[in-house]
Amino acid sequence: MIGCSIRRLTECTSTNDEAAAWARDTKDPAPHGAVVIAAAQTEGRGRQGRSWHSPNGENLYFSTVLRPRLPPSRVPPITLCAGLAVCEVVNSLGPSASIKWPNDVLIGGAKVAGVLTEMSTRAQKLDSVVVGIGLNVNSRSFPPQLAATSILLASGHRQELPTVMGALLFALNEWYELYLDSGVTGLEEAFEQHSMLSGKNVRAKVGTELIAGTVEALGPDGSLIIEDGRGERHSIIAGEVELVS
Ligand code: BTN
Repeated sequence: MIGCSIRRLTECTSTNDEAAAWARDTKDPAPHGAVVIAAAQTEGRGRQGRSWHSPNGENLYFSTVLRPRLPPSRVPPITLCAGLAVCEVVNSLGPSASIKWPNDVLIGGAKVAGVLTEMSTRAQKLDSVVVGIGLNVNSRSFPPQLAATSILLASGHRQELPTVMGALLFALNEWYELYLDSGVTGLEEAFEQHSMLSGKNVRAKVGTELIAGTVEALGPDGSLIIEDGRGERHSIIAGEVELVS
């Protein structure tokens, strides 16, 4: 059960680092579902070397340790489970949030949450997965270079962090269990409903390659399927995708 054991820190570099260290601890290894939450992070991290704005006490910064019996190739859709959980909770509080594949949650084009999934393997077998979630809840302002928002800015209402956290852990557990039971098929309908890229024209950067086309669907591995102008389908497992107007 996600949230079965919770460590609360006043400050750390990154809850993903703390959770990974706990998972590796030989004396007291983190069980499946263990969570590390911090009031502030000094080196909060995002994908592709980006940092995560983590001011003290305003928002949620936490990471959970998962120990699924899955091959590493089946880990990426867990990020989608986290995105769906965030969307569900944010939408229940008023704003209309959507997922920007693979790991962003946006309200009206501004980022309200991000998910950073990292795994550790031993002899090519999955040992643990750390899913880190940053959700902007009560921040009133952000550095100007960030296109970010918070639930407070979008709704006009402050939220109690422990209440939002409880709802988020519950929702994450539900989506994760559904994924284990039904694979990506179990996530498809909700993803289609919440994805801001569904049916849209996009440009994807995959390494040095640029792919332009229309977003068709989710692949069985959680990849994004883009159909280009010649009708060729590309399955994107990782990369940056932007909307083309
Ligand atoms: C992204 O937008 O690329 C992902 C951002 C993930 C941020 C969260 S905050 C809690 C956890 N600890 C981190 O250092 N990162 C994640």
